[in-house]
Amino acid sequence: MSEQASSYFMANLSPSSENPSPLIEGLKVIRTFHHPAGRGDRDGPCRRTSHESTPPCVIRSRWLEKVDLWAWVQHEITFATTEIVYGLANPYRHSKVDAGFWGFSEGTLPLLMPGIFPMIFAQRALAGRETVIKGMDNYFVCEGYLEGPSLVKTRYLTLKNHALDSDLARFECVNGIAILANTVPTAFWTIFHIFSDPGVLQEVRNHVEAITIIKTMPNGKVRKIDLSRLKDGPILFSAIQEALRVRATGSGPRLVMEDVRVGENQYLLKKDSAVIIAHKALHSDREAWGETAETFITDRFCGRASQQAYRGFGGGANHCLGRSFAMGEIAALVAMMVMRFDLIPTMGNSKAWGEPGQDLSNMALQIAPPKKHVVVDVSPRPDLGGVSWEFVV
Ligand code: HEM
Repeated sequence: MSEQASSYFMANLSPSSENPSPLIEGLKVIRTFHHPAGRGDRDGPCRRTSHESTPPCVIRSRWLEKVDLWAWVQHEITFATTEIVYGLANPYRHSKVDAGFWGFSEGTLPLLMPGIFPMIFAQRALAGRETVIKGMDNYFVCEGYLEGPSLVKTRYLTLKNHALDSDLARFECVNGIAILANTVPTAFWTIFHIFSDPGVLQEVRNHVEAITIIKTMPNGKVRKIDLSRLKDGPILFSAIQEALRVRATGSGPRLVMEDVRVGENQYLLKKDSAVIIAHKALHSDREAWGETAETFITDRFCGRASQQAYRGFGGGANHCLGRSFAMGEIAALVAMMVMRFDLIPTMGNSKAWGEPGQDLSNMALQIAPPKKHVVVDVSPRPDLGGVSWEFVV
C-alpha cells in the first residue's frame, strides 16, 4: 500500500488513542450493512444489497457427476458471495481471479516470512494476490463499483480521498479472506455432516419441503424454496452452528486492557498482554457441552445451547459481522442441495462417508478444510426429475 493509505488505516489504533480510528469506524459502518437480515430486520441494508445485484444462482442446472466436493463448494460459494458483494462487474467472474484468490488465501502464512522467503515459499500466493489486485484495480478504474451494491460503492467513495485505486484494490483482495475463506469450509462441513447421516438428511429435507412452494407453469412444474422461511425450522441453522463447533480450528486474540482476574480467581491477566482463545478447547469442554462434546449432534442448537463456550463467530466487540450473511448463504445452498441431489461418496471401492480429517496448515482460518479429497457422485433425486427449482425471497 502507499504510505499515505497505510498511515490513514493505521492511525489511532492504539487503545489509548482519543481520536477515532478510521479502521474501526469503517468496521462499524460495515456492521450496519450486515445487520442480521435473517434475524428480524427484513428490510435492512443487507437485504437491500442482495436485491440490488443479480440473485446468486448457487446451483446451476448442469448435470453433475463425480465431483471433488471441496472444489465444487469452493467455486459455488465464491461465485454466489462475490456476485452479491461486487455486483454485475464482479471481478471474480474471471476464473483467473477466482483461482488467484484461493492461491493467495491458502498461502497467507508463508507470505508473512521476511525478506526474499515469500518469493521462494509463497510463489502461488504472491502470483494469486497480484491477479486479484489487478482484477480489483480494473473494477475501480472502469467504475464497476457504480453498478455494484451500496456497500462496495459507499466503501469506495468514502475511502477514495485517503487512498489510491491501487491501495483499495489491495484492500479488497484481503477483504476476500473475510467474505470467503471461512464460509467455504463451514458450508463444506455442514454438507458433509448432513449428507453422511441418512436420518439427518431426511430431517433437513422434511424441513425444506415444508417451505417449498410448487407452482405449475406452462412449461412444467417449478419448485420454489422460500428463503424468508428458512428459519421456520431450526434444524438447518443448528446444523451449521454445530459444524462450526465441532470443526473449529481457529482462535480469538484479545489485548488485555486492564489487570483482571478470571476463573475463580485462578488467573491474573495483566494489562497490555495478549490472550489467545483456542476455540477448539472451548468447543470440546465437557462441562459446557456434556458427554457428547466431541460428537456432531445436528439439533444441539435447536434449544438452549451454551453461548459462553461457543465461539464459532467469535464474540464481544469483534463478533463476526458477516455471520448472518454467511449463515443465510450456507443455509440456502444446503437447502437447494438436499432437495435436488443425492450425493454418494466414491472413495476407492467404498460408498461410505469416510472421515477426511482436517488440513491444519492454514492458521489464518477459523475452520480448517478437509485433508483428503472427498469425491462424490452427484445425481438428481429420482422422484424429483424434470422439475425446475428457484429461490423466492
Ligand atoms: C461461516 C463463515 C464465517 C466464520 C466462521 C467467521 C468467523 C469469524 C470469527 C471467529 C471472527 C473473529 C471474531 C473475534 O475475534 O471474536 C470474525 C470476524 C470478522 N468477520 Fe467473520 N466469519 C465468517 C464469515 C464472514 C463474512 C461472510 C464476512 C463479511 C461479509 C465476515 C466479516 C468479518 C469481519 C469484518 C470481522 C472482524 C469484526 C471486527 O473485528 O469488528 N465474516 N469472523
